[in-house]
Amino acid sequence: EGDKLLGGRFVGSTDPIMEILSSSISTEQRLTEVDIQASMAYAKALEKASILTKTELEKILSGLEKISEESSKGVLVMTQSDEDIQTAIERRLKELIGDIAGKLQTGRSRNEQVVTDLKLLLKSSISVISTHLLQLIKTLVERAAIEIDIIMPGYTHLQKALPIRWSQFLLSHAVALTRDSERLGEVKKRITVLPLGSGALAGNPLEIDRELLRSELDMTSITLNSIDAISERDFVVELISVATLLMIHLSKLAEDLIIFSTTEFGFVTLSDAYSTGSSLLPQKKNPDSLELIRSKAGRVFGRLAAVLMVLKGLPSTYNKDLQEDKEAVFDVVDTLTAVLQVATGVISTLQVNKENMEKALTPELLSTDLALYLVRKGMPFRQAHVASGKAVHLAETKGIAINKLTLEDLKSISPLFASDVSQVFNIVNSVEQYTAVGGTAKSSVTAQIEQLRELLKKQ
Ligand code: ARG
Repeated sequence: EGDKLLGGRFVGSTDPIMEILSSSISTEQRLTEVDIQASMAYAKALEKASILTKTELEKILSGLEKISEESSKGVLVMTQSDEDIQTAIERRLKELIGDIAGKLQTGRSRNEQVVTDLKLLLKSSISVISTHLLQLIKTLVERAAIEIDIIMPGYTHLQKALPIRWSQFLLSHAVALTRDSERLGEVKKRITVLPLGSGALAGNPLEIDRELLRSELDMTSITLNSIDAISERDFVVELISVATLLMIHLSKLAEDLIIFSTTEFGFVTLSDAYSTGSSLLPQKKNPDSLELIRSKAGRVFGRLAAVLMVLKGLPSTYNKDLQEDKEAVFDVVDTLTAVLQVATGVISTLQVNKENMEKALTPELLSTDLALYLVRKGMPFRQAHVASGKAVHLAETKGIAINKLTLEDLKSISPLFASDVSQVFNIVNSVEQYTAVGGTAKSSVTAQIEQLRELLKKQ
């Protein structure tokens, strides 16, 4: 017998560098627990199919139990020559219970094992990510509820556009994240379809009860075609795609806050817990947490590109290329888990500088309201827009703010201007016009908060 675990047909040993290239054991350590669960379920199905006796089943189950204990205590030894997690567990089982261990693999292939393990693990990873995501949404929503009276300039093209509630800004990010949460739920539906029982590619020849496997492993259904089951990694691509879009949303939030935290804006101040200093410049307080969130979006997208590249051009069934999926998806899971918690921390500890926001609410933000004033006096909006633009220009040439133009100045632009025009220049009144669903008036923002709270309750 050669030194290879699966080595009946080999006479030579593996090149050591090839062994390093091929080994996935360090990446796959985290599949230990789910692989053992899947093996336990498979052993039970083998017993039902009369491949194992009751005693053999018990031996195998207790051996697997022991390996699980060793693993949770951190004393399960794995080496590079174990190649991957499935073979490492098989080796250890043989050490513990002897040759009966060899019966566990009857009719079973690593091809179905690895995809089963990955689905079982990602199912719980998605739950963890969803919990962190909901916590972030909740933090945004509750902050919006508390700070609903704070008004700030809203920007388009990063130029001052209209006054908005700070809460409207916070909720804009919360709402985007609810779509990510929904999409994660969609991915989960397809992750909980069990491939075990698909064999190497052709299915299982032992009349294995796949329904038993499904219920043992708490999955929702079983795969329909063995070849598709062992070769598809759609769920990996879907999860990383959803993660990428989620990261893009977090990157937008991070970028907004980076801008708002500059001394030039001064709208928000990041907590020390999420900032770092400069090695040279004593005054610096850098928004590293936000910059890392922004950059990790690039990292996650990179993982998506990598997986898609590996899949492109592969023939059907299992090919070793598929081994690359795990490092990518695990990195995405770890990145999301950390980033979501940091984002929640940043939002819950952020200091809002209300006075600076108020100072930035300069009168030109009400130019649209000046046009709307004329509309209410009967002027078509297009003409009103031009008239208000002329007022902006006149104020600019006089070197004064638009609300400092005299009534005569305004009347020179349109005779419809009257003394009640002074009422236009009121920030709160301006914001309160936007009462239509989704708008920035207090009533509408409150309605958004209520709806989001309802949604969070249902999760
Ligand atoms: N480590 C492998 C992977 O992650 C396990 C499956 C190996 N199967 C095989 N036939 N070589 O894809």
